[in-house]
Amino acid sequence: MCGIVGYIGDKNCLPILINGLKRLEYRGYDSAGIGIITNGDSVLIKNKGKVSVLEDRVGEMNLEAPLGIGHTRWATHGIPNETNAHPHTNEDKSLFLIHNGIIENYRTIKNELLKLGYEFASDTDTEVLVHLIDSFINRGNDLCKAVQLTLNEVIGTYGIAVIYKSEPDKVVVARKGSPLVVGLGENENFIASDVSALLAHTKQIIYLDDGELAVVSRDGYKVKTIADQEIEKEIHEISMTLEEIDKGGYTHFMLKEIMEQPDSVFNSMRGRLLFDEGDAKLGGLSDVTNRLINSERIIISACGTSWHAGLVAEYMLENIARLPAEVEYASEFRYRNPVINSNDTVIVISQSGETADTLAALREAKYRGALVLGVCNVVGSTIARESEAGVYIHAGPEIGVASTKAFTSQLIVLALITLLVARRKALSADEGKLIVNALRRLPEQISHILNLNSSIELLANEFKDANNFLYLGRGYNFPVALEGALKLKEISYIHAEGYPAAEMKHGPIALIDENLPVVFIATKDSTYEKVISNIEEVKARGGRLIAIASENDDEIDRLVNHTIKIPDTVEMLRPILTSIPLQLLAYHIAVKKGLNVDQPRNLAKSVTVE
Ligand code: AGP
Repeated sequence: MCGIVGYIGDKNCLPILINGLKRLEYRGYDSAGIGIITNGDSVLIKNKGKVSVLEDRVGEMNLEAPLGIGHTRWATHGIPNETNAHPHTNEDKSLFLIHNGIIENYRTIKNELLKLGYEFASDTDTEVLVHLIDSFINRGNDLCKAVQLTLNEVIGTYGIAVIYKSEPDKVVVARKGSPLVVGLGENENFIASDVSALLAHTKQIIYLDDGELAVVSRDGYKVKTIADQEIEKEIHEISMTLEEIDKGGYTHFMLKEIMEQPDSVFNSMRGRLLFDEGDAKLGGLSDVTNRLINSERIIISACGTSWHAGLVAEYMLENIARLPAEVEYASEFRYRNPVINSNDTVIVISQSGETADTLAALREAKYRGALVLGVCNVVGSTIARESEAGVYIHAGPEIGVASTKAFTSQLIVLALITLLVARRKALSADEGKLIVNALRRLPEQISHILNLNSSIELLANEFKDANNFLYLGRGYNFPVALEGALKLKEISYIHAEGYPAAEMKHGPIALIDENLPVVFIATKDSTYEKVISNIEEVKARGGRLIAIASENDDEIDRLVNHTIKIPDTVEMLRPILTSIPLQLLAYHIAVKKGLNVDQPRNLAKSVTVE
């Protein structure tokens, strides 16, 4: 959630830290800070609010330093203010520490430290780490050893970076449950929680694994376990480019990412379609294909938008591949003592590949002997690396906190997995070809939907002042209703609920009056007539109706106030098309309300705490 960046080398670290923090701001943005060591002096600057505030303050100070760490915070313990912002420091300000994660036993450690005479400035869990390191240094340990001894006492999750005035030749970093990478340069090295912070400087990356610590200096690095065993790490070459993480002329990352979908969807299936066989080729699954198709059951576990993608996949796998499938919130799965057998396949879906609950679900499923597959966007992410096999969605970096292009790309990959299994079970080559051809047409159909942008913007004008929204759909479009409602509430702060359309009469119908916009996803599929009856029921009660409908449907116009007509595709792929107008609707409503769509309040892009 929080962003971490650090530098040691020949250059002035300050612009590197500030620019790195700007890249990481999507991970957390309630406060920011940096700590530097220069000419035997240590300087700490931090504030509530944006990195731009920090940047202005740093600019006025005219500082230079070869060593520093920076942090952008998403508060867990203690309100967002200057004192609770990171870095945290010890009494003589010789140590600076930044942290992403939660120290669960911080109260116990704090009580011990209070007895030793330590004083605490902040309300955070993090501050115990810096005082505990200080106490180990005071007992004769060097920085690295003091960090190791501290982490031995800690229960919880962390990605930390620490610098120390008396050892200005190093940054010590460690991870358990929160991502950390080391970036390699010439006469300089970097650390960060996310490669996007380092792209301007290096593409040579080392991923730390849980329980590992690195001592990073100007000329090199050493990786060992917290228990002090040295480890050889592989150096990875990052293919992501700076252009991919820029706004590219758009006012918001979210709009850019919505508009990128013809390309991102294409990239998700590039090289993976077998036209003649009506099949899919997924290199990441080649070693486990037999185990996958012989699975007795598929369990999908994920959070948020990725969970919605999982719900769509449940319909795909059952309808097309005839495999029993269940979808679980990862946060519930991990604590529910789930029944998992070695004949089950568990698919975890995560854009970031770092979501703490999803990672925990993956580990539990692995522990119980299931085949565990990962569907991730971020290459080299923890979930991608810990899955036994998997498929990258290749949507490109998603910076907007509201997930858009990752959702449609997740659906593409889940459709490909379904096709792969189905073709080895009951699906004929001709049926497979229908799906492959429909997949092939999607980028053009998405472009067609994106051309409706200005009419959807007009719709947003009409509905921006509503206090509540209801989204209804059936079958494959039920998860789209959930996703449409989530998109709206997370960026516009309008309360919205998604329901299966037929459930409406079991309760939500009581909400309907002339003030309630009801969005129906009513494409011409197997439940179309039933959905039309539900539309009639809302109309009879005066609700304001918007329908996402098939382009050849003229009937629906007489029933609803507004229709957004979209091209047709095979039923299992419809959510890829029906979700896009809902992304645009949410986006424009939020913009018209003057809200920060890329960094909505209280949220963060990747939720690395429970
Ligand atoms: C989506 O718009 C949300 N910001 C959120 O629900 C997200 O999908 C969820 O936190 C899961 O993230 P992941 O895909 O990175 O695991």
